[in-house]
Amino acid sequence: MSVSELRNAAGDPAGSAASSCATSRRATAAVLRAWSIEDLRRIAKKRLPRAVFDFYDGGAEDEATLRANRAAFERVRIAPRTLVDVTRVDTSTTVLGGRSAMPIAVGPTGAPGFGWPLGDVGIARAAAAAGIPYTLSTMATASLERVAREAPGRLWFQAYVFKQREITMALIERARRLGYEALMITVDVPVGGKRERDFRNDFAVPFRFTPRNVLDFAMHPGWVLSVLRHGMPVLENVAEFNPEANDAAEIASSIGRFWDPAFDWSRMKEIRDRWPKKLLVKGVLRGDDAERLAALGVDAIVVSNHGGRQLDGASAALDALPQVVRAVNRKASVMVDGGVRRGVDVVKALALGADAVMLGRATLMGACAAGEAGARRALEILRDELVRAMQLTGVTAVGQIGPELIAPSPAGATPCP
Ligand SMILES: Cc1cc2nc3c(=O)[nH]c(=O)nc-3n(C[C@H](O)[C@H](O)[C@H](O)COP(=O)(O)O)c2cc1C
Repeated sequence: MSVSELRNAAGDPAGSAASSCATSRRATAAVLRAWSIEDLRRIAKKRLPRAVFDFYDGGAEDEATLRANRAAFERVRIAPRTLVDVTRVDTSTTVLGGRSAMPIAVGPTGAPGFGWPLGDVGIARAAAAAGIPYTLSTMATASLERVAREAPGRLWFQAYVFKQREITMALIERARRLGYEALMITVDVPVGGKRERDFRNDFAVPFRFTPRNVLDFAMHPGWVLSVLRHGMPVLENVAEFNPEANDAAEIASSIGRFWDPAFDWSRMKEIRDRWPKKLLVKGVLRGDDAERLAALGVDAIVVSNHGGRQLDGASAALDALPQVVRAVNRKASVMVDGGVRRGVDVVKALALGADAVMLGRATLMGACAAGEAGARRALEILRDELVRAMQLTGVTAVGQIGPELIAPSPAGATPCP
């Protein structure tokens, strides 16, 4: 997809900077009227061409795992304590050895720049402002260097493992040189998931202009203007590895072909041996895998099914959490992601044994709605909800959240005599 093709699709709106700024101001005003992550998602949906929104919003195949992630959070109920002085609540905690204003880290999401120019930088800056760690994806639309320069907070780097070892090792070396505090290896992508929304929307790559998606772009002139003004997003970390691909969408798809389906325990150990700082492994859903990773010296396990984008039919992340927590037995930290949309979800995850949660679409949808302002709004909403949920649960510090706060499931409830 080139800028000139976009211009044609949009009827050449002349790329006016003034109108792009006005769009940005309107978007910022709109997110201040968002009261939930779902509100931000709705704003993003309206703003983005369908093909782009669906790329972020969608999951694999029937999206059963995507739905299951949310359903698992909704099934868990809390038994709140009463008569506790909750005037003051402290949401801060230690996450992976460093202080974090909340038991939350922003997880990696690829290609946010399609949703908002340099959306990655916006999310990273919002995370820094909220006092929580940010994870930059290999598939980011901002380079390791750019984010290190422009975002002041705690930075982690997520690496995919490529067939060509030197690509992975070069990325890891860049992260080390730039002072990224932790490395996250994602292990649930031996091959790409089958995301049918992308096929149906012709988001499949190489990008093809079809009557459907040209109309789709034409109906979203605000988005088109912002792309015209800022240029096509580039997957800055990996662009150099596939010079024939000429835009982010093409690279995103073609680079997937370079992921290594043979990546296994021995190479995982190699990475552990090569990376001296904190190491997280993301995409674990089994107790035995988690136990083995902890024994290998991994510092944190992220219980995750990639937001339902990989194996459709995989367990909901929250359902898999308790067995991972038991298996790891405090030898490593445990985090969970997949479906975190409310502050109370953080309380539920911690009560089930997580040390922290990670966000994917929550901040991504914020950024798609209004860039950094939208991502900040997402974190503000979650912070406000977390404080309120802690107060209503009767806890004043993160350390007070434990399994005794989980209400017995209705099936296990004892009927009155
Ligand atoms: C658009 C999109 C891109 C993603 N890109 C990556 C990625 O580059 N690396 C990765 O490890 N996980 C990636 N993920 C998965 C997220 O890190 C996270 O596991 C998932 O979004 C959590 O589910 P939730 O967004 O429903 O809360 C991506 C998720 C989405 C929605």
